[in-house]
Amino acid sequence: MKLIKYNNINDDEKVIECCECIKNGGVVIFPTETVYGIGVNALDEKAVKKIFLVKGRPSDNPLIVHISNYDMLGQVCDIDKISIIERKLMDSFWPGPFTIILPKKDTISDLVTAGLDTVGVRMPNNHVALKLVENAGVPIAAPSANISGKPSGTTVEDIIDEIGDKVDYIIDAGMCDIGIESTVVKLIDNKIKILRPGKISKEDIENVIGEGNVFLDKKLFESVKKEEKVESPGMKHRHYAPNIKCILVYSNDEDKQIEEINKIIVDNVEKYNNILVLGFKEHKKYFDESMFIDFGSKYDLSEISKNIFTALRRLDKLDCDLCIIEGVDKKGIGTGIMNRLIRACEYNYVEV
Ligand code: TXA
Ligand code: MG
Repeated sequence: MKLIKYNNINDDEKVIECCECIKNGGVVIFPTETVYGIGVNALDEKAVKKIFLVKGRPSDNPLIVHISNYDMLGQVCDIDKISIIERKLMDSFWPGPFTIILPKKDTISDLVTAGLDTVGVRMPNNHVALKLVENAGVPIAAPSANISGKPSGTTVEDIIDEIGDKVDYIIDAGMCDIGIESTVVKLIDNKIKILRPGKISKEDIENVIGEGNVFLDKKLFESVKKEEKVESPGMKHRHYAPNIKCILVYSNDEDKQIEEINKIIVDNVEKYNNILVLGFKEHKKYFDESMFIDFGSKYDLSEISKNIFTALRRLDKLDCDLCIIEGVDKKGIGTGIMNRLIRACEYNYVEV
């Protein structure tokens, strides 16, 4: 593996080196504005196979294909089948943290789409990612850079430990800005369904196509059984969970939230050796300092979103066996944060 440090446009030459690797069927980990991606040429079946191997990803979970301009869209999906609503959304949110499920073209292998007749497409808003796709000249299939089931990689330090030795290049451009993966949507019966919430919120989409036209998939906060049919295969798989037990606690009344966490601590103090609380930095004062770690300010959900996956990974490195996590309001990016946290806690969720 070759590690490349990307600081500014003077390092663009180094990205070009990675484009050659992609063209030759290699695997490159690269930054996006959401999380790091592990990318290969989406048109090269052999290369696509490598991704599933490196991640240990179930073959029924399709990959997102990244493009750098609208000309490339025609290489991955059937342009004639794109509706006005879908166009409007692409125009509003691309480049950006927004993935849209579209009718796929035959050039895209069934491996990429896990046998579905649709493909998830995204134009990322990150200079390195766009440069990589543009100069490779092919769409890049890239899931998040982590072992399947683990929190997504948002810093290269986390990623190197996990899969660094299994790829050809890693481009390190520092910590990702947004920290949770893109919003995934699909047009169904002329309405937009959100299959994975992200920075682009339900409210943002409503602003473009009108209220009443956007729905959250009802499975976003529920556990899904293996045999159940879901719109997005990713919903079925274990995801984001640290090795230790975690409980998510939420109340729209802050005092109650803190009270409930303290109650859980008292109830469990005999059963567990070392209990931690992961929460808002403003709440540190309510707990024993040695048992509290923060993931940002309650006044800044984007800070929490940015930190969430590194915080979850930290839990496994600390000497603790139970973590109680503070929930946030399901508004704006808060919906995406809660979706990741509920899954990290494997649906151990208490609302008071
Ligand atoms: O922000 C992101 O989207 C990151 C960066 C690297 O772009 N990528 C990412 O990919 O999160 P991944 O593979 O970790 O998540 C892709 C999600 C999965 O939940 C998958 O099931 C869903 O998108 N997906 C992909 N293609 C789909 C399709 N054709 N229909 C329904 N869901 C699809
Ligand atoms: Mg992922």
